[in-house]
Amino acid sequence: MGPLHVAIIMDGNGRWARSRGHARFFGHVRGVRRVQEVVQEAGNLGLSALTLYAFSTENWKRPEAEREVLWRLLRRFLKVETPALLRSNVQFRVIGDRSRLSPAVLSAIRETECALEKCTGLQLTIAVSYGARDEIIRAARAFARECFEGSMKPEQMTEDLFSQFLDTAPLGSLADVDLVLRTSGEQRLSNFLLWQAAYAELTFVNKPWPEFTAGDLRRAVQQFSSRKRRFGGVEGARPSETPQESRT
Ligand code: IPE
Ligand code: IPE
Ligand code: MG
Repeated sequence: MGPLHVAIIMDGNGRWARSRGHARFFGHVRGVRRVQEVVQEAGNLGLSALTLYAFSTENWKRPEAEREVLWRLLRRFLKVETPALLRSNVQFRVIGDRSRLSPAVLSAIRETECALEKCTGLQLTIAVSYGARDEIIRAARAFARECFEGSMKPEQMTEDLFSQFLDTAPLGSLADVDLVLRTSGEQRLSNFLLWQAAYAELTFVNKPWPEFTAGDLRRAVQQFSSRKRRFGGVEGARPSETPQESRT
């Protein structure tokens, strides 16, 4: 079976541009162009959810000029692509710490959320000012607040309940990631979906994001289908083969 939820760390824009003698921002400009094709292909492949890492909590450390380019590109992407996303019936969400976003970025996000409100197709999530540790801390605080106010008790906490406090809660059972894909050759998660990717398969593509194509996504999804996921169990084991029951 193919993955239902694919999450992509779109990495390598800066190095792609520098290796061609351009400024880093040019890589971001080219990188945005790949997003539309990948979203389209995710729909063609029948994925249920696609999450794209666009800006991490750690990316706030970058020079202001680069951050400004990224915000401008995000706003332009939302403005230009919303009609196409609407035609493709794409559901849209943003995860991350919104409190750090500027009013202009926030209003662009709200406009797209509003325009796509009634869509029922692919669940597209963009991670902006997102860090998994920050998300988990915000969830823990929200739960602690409920306990303090008396509407919940610490003993009630379960994995399912905790998931409901995370930014990905609206995705319900789709929040768990099946496949994490990272471009640029780096092999790390960089604080992306640490809770949701607990049992995700990982794929590292040796190409910078501006060169990533629909075909690359298709190949990654096909390779995923041949992987054996055991989730800690035993592949193909019949109940009679489990230790307790095979004892004679
Ligand atoms: C990914 O490309 C885009 C963002 C993190 C916003 P980078 O900007 O990280 O490019 P490299 O990894 O430095 O080449
Ligand atoms: C991860 O890439 C964040 C995004 C792709 C948005 P980075 O380039 O920021 O990650 P590191 O610094 O290489 O770990
Ligand atoms: Mg990078």
